[in-house]
Amino acid sequence: MAFPQTRLRRLRATHALRGLVRETSLSPSDLVYPLFVAHGLDRREPIAAMPGVDHLSIAHAVAEAGEAQSLGIPAVLLFGLPAAKDEEGSGAWDDEGVIQLATRAIKERHPELLVITDLCLCEYTSHGHCGVVRSDGSVDNDATLELLARTATSQARAGADVIAPSDMMDGRVGFIRAALDEDGHTDTPILSYSAKFASAFYGPFREAADSAPSFGDRRGYQLDPANANEAVRETRLDIEEGADMVMVKPALPYLDLIRRIKSETEMPLAAYNVSGEYAMVKAAAAGGYLDERATVLEVLTSIRRAGADIVITYHAKDAARWLQ
Ligand code: PBG
Repeated sequence: MAFPQTRLRRLRATHALRGLVRETSLSPSDLVYPLFVAHGLDRREPIAAMPGVDHLSIAHAVAEAGEAQSLGIPAVLLFGLPAAKDEEGSGAWDDEGVIQLATRAIKERHPELLVITDLCLCEYTSHGHCGVVRSDGSVDNDATLELLARTATSQARAGADVIAPSDMMDGRVGFIRAALDEDGHTDTPILSYSAKFASAFYGPFREAADSAPSFGDRRGYQLDPANANEAVRETRLDIEEGADMVMVKPALPYLDLIRRIKSETEMPLAAYNVSGEYAMVKAAAAGGYLDERATVLEVLTSIRRAGADIVITYHAKDAARWLQ
């Protein structure tokens, strides 16, 4: 006569048994690897706030993409640092812009690898905001939509497999969908950054993308970390407007929303394990406070367990190696 606890322990007795009853899987095929491509750069340059992540020339981005693919990672997410920034962010929709050039180069060398392009203006504007800034300093939502649509079609023409709007303007998904369709890209899916919180965890990224707002903040168009229902409502709106996949960002502090949005929408869901989450683990590991490998695999497994189908992470290549 066994106590019920004994039964649970019996299932943990061997590695093979633990594997058979494991509820959550983590594989390189769940991961997306973000790349920072810099126009005019001819080498890789470390990003101080994100050890192990570099600014890449286009040639280096092609090589990194190939390495990710050979590790079993199915997709890269591209961010561009343009040659020059201006008030409007015109580098974003330049057919010879950094994202467009990098997309073409990667698709030419690695046609099977998915290229997802981040769609936002903040890396391209001189003021660092995600849209058109009015004279009073506020962001003009509707004027921005036009520029985002131009950028989306330019990215699709360059060969992007998935367009990922991260700007958080209202109505952008429907507007971008219409523009893509009109330009003949009816089969190009949209991965919407639908539940994107105004987060301190984007700090290192803003150094990486040189996109910190020069005045104010993004609280006018990103979600308040205190609001879960609002995040679900925003996500539903994006789905109604035509988003094919939705996202929760950041991931670790918002695992509750990953779970809720997955169960309430039943949509393919990506979670973005953002720059600050990455930097936190790297810093603790460098200080000897955490075991990097065990921590990263636990973090990524937890994001999957919460309900994410796709995990976007700077740890992707390391994790893929550890999972081989
Ligand atoms: C652009 C964008 C940001 C991130 C992804 N796309 C920064 C921001 O909104 O400030 C953050 C990604 C990360 O921190 O890793 N809008």
